[in-house]
Amino acid sequence: MYEQLIKKIREIYRDKDIIPLHAPVFCGKEKEYVVDCIDTTFVSTVGRYSNSVEEKLKLITGSAHAVAVVNGTSALHAALLLHDVSSEDEVLCQSLTFVATANAISYCKAGLVLIDSDPNTLSMCPQKLEDWLKTNTSQDKDGITFNKFSHKKIRVCLLMHTLGHPGHIQEIQDICQKYNIHLIEDAAESLGSTYKGKHTGTLAPIGTLSFNGNKIATAGGGGALLIQDEVLAKKARHLTTTAKVPHKWEFDHDLVGYNYRMPNINAALLLAQLEELDRSLEIKRSITKQYESFFKELNIKFILEPSECSSNFWLNAIQLDSKEQKESLLEELNKNNIQVRGLWKPMHTLNMYSKCQRTDMLVTDHLYNTILCLPSGVN
Ligand SMILES: Cc1ncc(COP(=O)(O)O)c(C=O)c1O
Repeated sequence: MYEQLIKKIREIYRDKDIIPLHAPVFCGKEKEYVVDCIDTTFVSTVGRYSNSVEEKLKLITGSAHAVAVVNGTSALHAALLLHDVSSEDEVLCQSLTFVATANAISYCKAGLVLIDSDPNTLSMCPQKLEDWLKTNTSQDKDGITFNKFSHKKIRVCLLMHTLGHPGHIQEIQDICQKYNIHLIEDAAESLGSTYKGKHTGTLAPIGTLSFNGNKIATAGGGGALLIQDEVLAKKARHLTTTAKVPHKWEFDHDLVGYNYRMPNINAALLLAQLEELDRSLEIKRSITKQYESFFKELNIKFILEPSECSSNFWLNAIQLDSKEQKESLLEELNKNNIQVRGLWKPMHTLNMYSKCQRTDMLVTDHLYNTILCLPSGVN
């Protein structure tokens, strides 16, 4: 099977000696826009590209507002701050995620409650979420949900759309509504993915995106908040631009703000990438089709998009029968210059998050042990 798989991946990514997991591709107006920033000297936090990126993101996602920031992690941090998350609170999040999701919660000094994943979407399991809330929380007379044991407020639920596949957003939204918990979508990996026709990151009042170099569209480093409420969007813009009060020359700031605004030079690169997004999504889908039929023949489980969803297939992935099988494939393919990767170590297995409250992690542990991510770039 190694030989067959190596042959297949080399057939998809012709002429590449080393096949990366997901390298960026620049074949639009990237150079033109970046050179324009240099020529006009607008390389930093002021400039037309940052604004154009926000407009483009609104068009792509259908979001009412978009706020461009320095990376996906800062977008998550700002999203939590917009809901006033503090050390008095707890935030629910899936254990199977990139560490940035959990770190952003820690930056706010809130406690984490780690929830198991669903075997089909790989994202947060609604049933485990509800079971945990039923057993561990109670609501006060105003309907606010508190942890019965720590007495902290359960303020936010942070759902991440894993590998670009939309999670069970509707079910999770219903649970959050019942318990009066704010929902945030970490859509860092899912630009271009939709759930029942709606773009991921826009179903909750706040969603976040990442434009890291390994994503479907990159700014070098960048992120964005997708926000549906005007007041929250205004607050986000203020908070992420050092809370500066507009004035022609005075430096006046009315809160402890953050220097999170996406620089114009990064936005220039990103705008050109976003202009190519439809093409990238199309290429990705054709790569997925090739993988899908190949693994069907081998009788190996290929991770498909959930029903009623359209996935960007950020990373194509397969699920193997055992940890040993996954590890030997990791070994063999990487030895052959084909970058394959497992999933992130789940948060409950990382030293700093190992003592967090959590559900059982039967699905998360199994997914971590058996899933292998395949080269998926559009190069
Ligand atoms: C799920 C998830 N959340 C957050 C981030 C953080 O984004 P950034 O690297 O832009 O800070 C990433 C990846 O980069 C991610 O995959």
